[in-house]
Amino acid sequence: MDETRGRITRDGIRIYEAEDFAGMRAAGRLAAHILDEVAPLVQPGTTTEVLDAFIERRVAELGATSATIGYKGYQHASCISVNHVVCHGIPGPKILKDGDILNIDVTVILDGWYGDTSRMYVAGALNRKAERLIQVTHDALFRGIAAVKPGNTFGDIGHAIQTFVEANRMSVVRDFCGHGLGRVFHAPPNVLHYGRAGTGAVLEEGMFFTIEPMVNLGRPETKVLADDWTAVTRDKSLSAQFEHSVGVTATGCEIFTLSPAGKFHPTWG
Ligand code: MF3
Ligand code: CO
Ligand code: CO
Repeated sequence: MDETRGRITRDGIRIYEAEDFAGMRAAGRLAAHILDEVAPLVQPGTTTEVLDAFIERRVAELGATSATIGYKGYQHASCISVNHVVCHGIPGPKILKDGDILNIDVTVILDGWYGDTSRMYVAGALNRKAERLIQVTHDALFRGIAAVKPGNTFGDIGHAIQTFVEANRMSVVRDFCGHGLGRVFHAPPNVLHYGRAGTGAVLEEGMFFTIEPMVNLGRPETKVLADDWTAVTRDKSLSAQFEHSVGVTATGCEIFTLSPAGKFHPTWG
């Protein structure tokens, strides 16, 4: 791919050109559309590998490639993280039961551009505790997105997320972060979901990155299981996550991964 256009900031962050937004828009929309399509399949009695098989098939049918199959040895088209799994849950024969909450994270490559998004789903009925966690995590992502505009810093994004989550007596996971992306999956910077206002690299028009806060009902600490992927809360508390891919514009940002069907939140659509 042509990586000669554009430039790299002192912080190592690529600045993309105006034309590049179209590629990200198409990739992001496709990833979000697949997350829309999988929603009706999330039911008690199904398994996470059935959901992943559907996603893998749709990625191919829609003319895209999975960014996660073969990535550092990962073998699936999605990560599916149930209940106290924070992220990188591996699809498998686990049967979903009523009230389980899960994050499904899909990254596609379309025409060389990466679209990375995740959202929460519920199997059956959502209980009050889980509903509150999901709402706070969703709103925390949008607090972070609201801080995206040229001249603000990455610390402003983290600060907006952390203060909102902690005001709701929940905790922000520190062990995983968002990332630059574009014609690559993971690029600088690390987008932290906590931090101090006014710190970190300054946002510029043309930066592309994800914001993907993970929020726990209990303590923030995580551990990775023996499979080397599955990250869980150490205290076994429930965890939630939402992820959008965004591009910085002159006045704010464009969200590349908006749900075409308006189904980003499990109680919508
Ligand atoms: N999509 C994840 C992210 O938001 C990364 C998954 S990598 C995998 O960055 F290998 F676990 F799939
Ligand atoms: Co991501
Ligand atoms: Co992701």
